[in-house]
Amino acid sequence: MKKSIQIAIDGPASAGKSTVAKILAKKRGFIYCDTGAMYRALTLAALENKVDLDSEKELSELLSRIVIDFKQKNDGQHVYLNQKDVTNEIRVNEVTNAVSKVSAYKTIREEMVNRQQEITSSNSIVMDGRDIGTVVLPNADLKMFLVASVEERAERRYKENLSKGIKTDFEILKKEIADRDHYDSNRKNSPLVQAQDAILVDTSGLTIQEVVQEIEKEMKTFL
Ligand code: CDP
Ligand code: CDP
Repeated sequence: MKKSIQIAIDGPASAGKSTVAKILAKKRGFIYCDTGAMYRALTLAALENKVDLDSEKELSELLSRIVIDFKQKNDGQHVYLNQKDVTNEIRVNEVTNAVSKVSAYKTIREEMVNRQQEITSSNSIVMDGRDIGTVVLPNADLKMFLVASVEERAERRYKENLSKGIKTDFEILKKEIADRDHYDSNRKNSPLVQAQDAILVDTSGLTIQEVVQEIEKEMKTFL
């Protein structure tokens, strides 16, 4: 049987992880798993159900009651929360500003990691997030750690929002990204950190295609 391949892509917000992960998965016919979308789906469910975000117990109970699925459609991957398509809803500001708090809890992370490892078990996969190379897929065939300056990442998000017709305040966006990085990097449970065997790519000034090429160059060493 052909060995399944695991590629882990980690890094801070808006470093380009999901964009390049999707391109790579499509090119190679691998599954793509957006772990951030799973934490976002739980956060959305918590906000909709008015669950106390300070209560790890209530959040864990909520998580045990929800099913998060991914489905590939013509226009890309869609995210489902208990069968409802929440692809766009999980990206709204309220969710973005609450997700780091929800994802910092130990029991939440343990359950999410279990679910992520189940998706991986027999499939070749590209998975992106914050703890993929360190916790979820510690034996991944390739671990990438993508970074870029806060300035550049805020600019990317600003342009992305503009393309969707949303005008954002650049300075607020920059602060929100920096705050989320800080929170994600300093939490007690599996903080955002580069795995020892991960390859660092500073994507500042690089196009999406250039980043994809960097990763494909590394893939050639084992594929
Ligand atoms: O796409 P963006 O960079 O905005 O973030 P995301 O990948 O959708 O992740 C949203 C949030 O989920 C992060 O800021 C982390 O707080 C959390 N997260 C995590 O803790 N662990 C992961 N493996 C993925 C996301
Ligand atoms: O998944 P993550 O939060 O790391 O970032 P993303 O959602 O893949 O990328 C954020 C935005 O930056 C998207 O609009 C990408 O098209 C853009 N991007 C870019 O302009 N240049 C890159 N080298 C990578 C991403």
